[in-house]
Amino acid sequence: MTSMNEQPIRVRLATEADRSAARASVPTATARGRASLALLSTGQGLLWVAVEGTGEQEILVGLLLATAQVQPEREELVGYIHELLVHPASRRRGVAMHLLDAAERFFLEEHAFAYVELTTSPDNEAALQLYRSRGYAISSVRFSKQRGLPPTEEC
Ligand SMILES: CC(C)(COP(=O)(O)OP(=O)(O)OC[C@H]1O[C@@H](n2cnc3c(N)ncnc32)[C@H](O)[C@@H]1OP(=O)(O)O)[C@@H](O)C(=O)NCCC(=O)NCCS
Repeated sequence: MTSMNEQPIRVRLATEADRSAARASVPTATARGRASLALLSTGQGLLWVAVEGTGEQEILVGLLLATAQVQPEREELVGYIHELLVHPASRRRGVAMHLLDAAERFFLEEHAFAYVELTTSPDNEAALQLYRSRGYAISSVRFSKQRGLPPTEEC
């Protein structure tokens, strides 16, 4: 995971200082980002961070925010990933893989939850490739139609 210029990346459960740093990293332009910010601001959710460097030089390069939920029909425990975000300068270095390792270990192995779940956009190729490569399967497909759009004759 390192090259000549890159330092090792470590993943850990967040400290209070990490939570503050994470709040500055989450995009506020999206509904997902605003929901994550609400969780982070109120101390909710399990937060894992990926950091590079040490001491004063330590920087946040990625984060994963999740909560424990109950799947209502089956009453099964689910670890729901609200946010998985890697700084653009640190992508394709395995950071997301390490964050997912930590979250999956916590939910599936240490706490024996039935599933880890998340949602992503169907055009997010990076995310689709990432999750497929880790054995995630599509479990539901949700269609929606925006108010005001005319019906189409093609189907
Ligand atoms: C998606 C995202 C989290 C991936 O983070 P990352 O640290 O770069 O991912 P990794 O380096 O761990 O990649 C692991 C694997 O995922 C896939 N992958 C990651 N980025 C990819 C991309 N841009 N295109 C295609 N496949 C990609 C590859 O299979 C990759 O393995 P490889 O590098 O050996 O080919 C990152 O691009 C990101 O933060 N995007 C914006 C936020 C987002 O879309 N989050 C997910 C939505 S829930």
